[in-house]
Amino acid sequence: MTGIPPEDVKAYAQGFFDLSIWQEATPIGAQLLERVAGMDALVVMPGDKLDAATIAALPASVKVLGTYSVGTDHVDLKAASAKKLRVFHTPDVLTEAVADLALFLIIGAARDTTAAEKALREGRWGRWAPTSMLGRSLQGLRLGIFGMGRIGQAIAARARPFGLSIQYHNRSELRPDQALGATYHATLEALMTHSDVLCICAPSAPELKGAINAQRLALLPQNAMLVNVARGDLVDEEALFAHMATGRLSGLAMDVYRNEPRIDPRWLDLPHTTLLPHIGSATHEVRSAMGMLVVDGVASHFGLGRGGHCANPT
Ligand code: DGY
Repeated sequence: MTGIPPEDVKAYAQGFFDLSIWQEATPIGAQLLERVAGMDALVVMPGDKLDAATIAALPASVKVLGTYSVGTDHVDLKAASAKKLRVFHTPDVLTEAVADLALFLIIGAARDTTAAEKALREGRWGRWAPTSMLGRSLQGLRLGIFGMGRIGQAIAARARPFGLSIQYHNRSELRPDQALGATYHATLEALMTHSDVLCICAPSAPELKGAINAQRLALLPQNAMLVNVARGDLVDEEALFAHMATGRLSGLAMDVYRNEPRIDPRWLDLPHTTLLPHIGSATHEVRSAMGMLVVDGVASHFGLGRGGHCANPT
């Protein structure tokens, strides 16, 4: 395993495997191939890239792969399938935690809470005034959800009681019992024109990389807000920085970025922006559940454990 799991996950994994853990603070990087020699299974973290070349070079001892994440964008699933390696991941168990954090970010973007807290911490909290530290009310705004899968639907469920009207774009329209009155937009462009808050929840599929680009950002209404809890590479960051400079966006709130954790330093200078370090699933409960699930998945390959979720079923 290329990251340190919670103690309960460690103990659980040790029930099946002679567990070897990459303990360093830096990602395993090029040392992966050397360290995995003789191992039967490999579980990586979202920051570890298993591209086609790395997968091709994995020793024959490795019979199954896992990732401590629901997202599999860092793993070349086709290359894994070509090598007959199943890849187990962690859907469902983190849905509610990521949706909780998305709501926090939506509220943070609307009320510019990071700037307000900074003013307090820096001793710039002046007397109460009707015009100081104003944000936007959520009631009546349109929340556009780009990617209405499990997490998108969980965010919608939380946002409705706040009075947000739910708009979404997905590859296909949801059944009425899933959409629960949300308005479907067949194109991302249409969604963007109808979003006062755009929340990015789509998986980072190759065809979606850079989907939030200059042309589409220009479609957002004046004073719109943008929240990303999915993956940084869905956003063309150059285009976003340029769009922020126009003053047309009233708030940004991000949990994910390109090149994590070495993010573009320009993020740090953006006004009206809340930045979190990819903590959507970071609760004690969820990180344990994710660990158990991925361990169960790789163990299932050997006829052990309770079964998992394979991202590249054959
Ligand atoms: C995932 O599981 O893909 C998350 O982004 C990690 O928290």
